[in-house]
Amino acid sequence: MNVVKVKNYDEMSEKACELIISKLKGNEKPVLGLATGSTPEGFYDRLIEAYEQGNITFENITTFNLDEYVGLAKDDPQSYHYYMYNRLFKHIDLKEENAHLPKGDAENLKEECERYEQLIKAAGGVDIQLLGLGTNGHIAFNEPGTSFESRTQVVNLTESTIEANSRFFENKDDVPTEAVTMGIGSILESDEIVMLVSGENKSEALAQIINGEITEDNPATVLQKHKNVTIIADEAALRKVK
Ligand code: GLP
Repeated sequence: MNVVKVKNYDEMSEKACELIISKLKGNEKPVLGLATGSTPEGFYDRLIEAYEQGNITFENITTFNLDEYVGLAKDDPQSYHYYMYNRLFKHIDLKEENAHLPKGDAENLKEECERYEQLIKAAGGVDIQLLGLGTNGHIAFNEPGTSFESRTQVVNLTESTIEANSRFFENKDDVPTEAVTMGIGSILESDEIVMLVSGENKSEALAQIINGEITEDNPATVLQKHKNVTIIADEAALRKVK
């Protein structure tokens, strides 16, 4: 596991942008796994700048997002579809048909999960997967206790995740209680994983990934099993790492 220590959020976003662009440029038809949440916002802003400056084109890139809330339509401002479109996709030359997210409002969610797995497979798998980190150690929406073998599935969100994500909603009661998420097994199949971590509130979860035991009670500790992981973390997030 390669840990890159940076000063703060801005430096984390900058480093992530440099690293991911260099990886994308080394691949003719890259498949990039994307994440949502507050953590990658600065990274997406820099990616847009790099595109505007002509440093990167997304013409040959395919993207797969990790997750989506159940029950929210694409155009719902709280959906991850909406987040991705507004924060990244509409600003760059990524082809619409190459940008994928699970459909949280699909009529048959089980079929949707299978469809999503097949789509990833058909694209040849994810080359680089971007990840954030939940304060309880969740990755994507894989909450503590999720099997390391899990595939794309519908999950219940824990009270702590609902609480953490309620900041994006008007009322806590508006936060969906379920999500469609790529499984831990699906995520581990990516060739390479880049995790971004910023802030004191992630320091315990991050210390567990780096120094703790591998356990399903703390999903992100599974990264210790992957052969190619880079964690870009700021000083506040690294505070509890030995
Ligand atoms: C959300 C997302 C995750 C994200 C995590 C951390 O619930 N499903 O993919 O990594 O929480 O979010 P944030 O970056 O806002 O702290």
